[in-house]
Amino acid sequence: MAKLIDGKSVAADVVNKVKAMTADLVAKNGPQPGIAVVIVGEDPASQVYVASKSRTAKECGFLSVQHALPAETSEAALLKLIDDLNRDAAIHGILVQLPLPGHIDSGKVIQAIAPEKDVDGFHFINVGKVGTGELETAFVPCTPAGSMLLIERARGKDLSGLNAVVLGRSNIVGKPMANLLLAANCTVTVAHSRTKDLPALARTADILVAAVGRPQMVKGDWIKPGATVIDVGINRIPAPEKGEGKTRLVGDVDFAEAEKLAGAITPVPGGVGPMTIAMLMANTLVSAYLAAG
Ligand code: GUN
Repeated sequence: MAKLIDGKSVAADVVNKVKAMTADLVAKNGPQPGIAVVIVGEDPASQVYVASKSRTAKECGFLSVQHALPAETSEAALLKLIDDLNRDAAIHGILVQLPLPGHIDSGKVIQAIAPEKDVDGFHFINVGKVGTGELETAFVPCTPAGSMLLIERARGKDLSGLNAVVLGRSNIVGKPMANLLLAANCTVTVAHSRTKDLPALARTADILVAAVGRPQMVKGDWIKPGATVIDVGINRIPAPEKGEGKTRLVGDVDFAEAEKLAGAITPVPGGVGPMTIAMLMANTLVSAYLAAG
């Protein structure tokens, strides 16, 4: 049976460290880290994520400002808010929750965020730094950064020469994940919906990262025995066994099958999810330190 990778506990360690470092920074008359979280519209999943990000920021001792804008907010109004936040010295991190409503150009909005406040790591400057291995000065996207920490917890810091397969090629997870694994000297393959014979490819992976958004797609016979399996998916599916109309969260991996073969595996919930928020806090703290000079 696979070892369970407890993301909740690793995330709590990160948050506690951020909390202690924030108290230390403030005690030395440094700036209180400030994060602005912007949400447009009423997507229920986004509302849950945003509430959780704001709550954790407060727990860390940050100034946490939330801007909840109506779905019909214009692109110009959102760009104006970002411009204001870029100029606000009390704010060190700006996060615009995605997806945005269809009439707003997400790319334009993300690129309007000052790169030094882009704690999501989505601005071209940060994407470019991650792509060129300039990890020391980059804001690394939170989900891949958190996934790397979990991989290192499971198998140590030396990942050199391991075969890594990333399922999914999104800008938020798949592509930056592949770059981080490459920077760690893995041999990396990025698979996607057009990839031929996914199960056979997945079986070559010492490290398998699933980020496709398809509930329980990765089956037991996709797993190389002993592999480290990182499940980034968060999918809500019907759970009639819990009662009529009930649902439950599952990942992109069929956990019950995969845990029989994997060496280590993240659960859903309680795996990668909590790490995303923890790394956002870490990025915001770093931003405040850099602002302090
Ligand atoms: N939507 C889904 N994941 C993310 C994320 O990591 N950051 C933002 N801003 N929006 C998201």
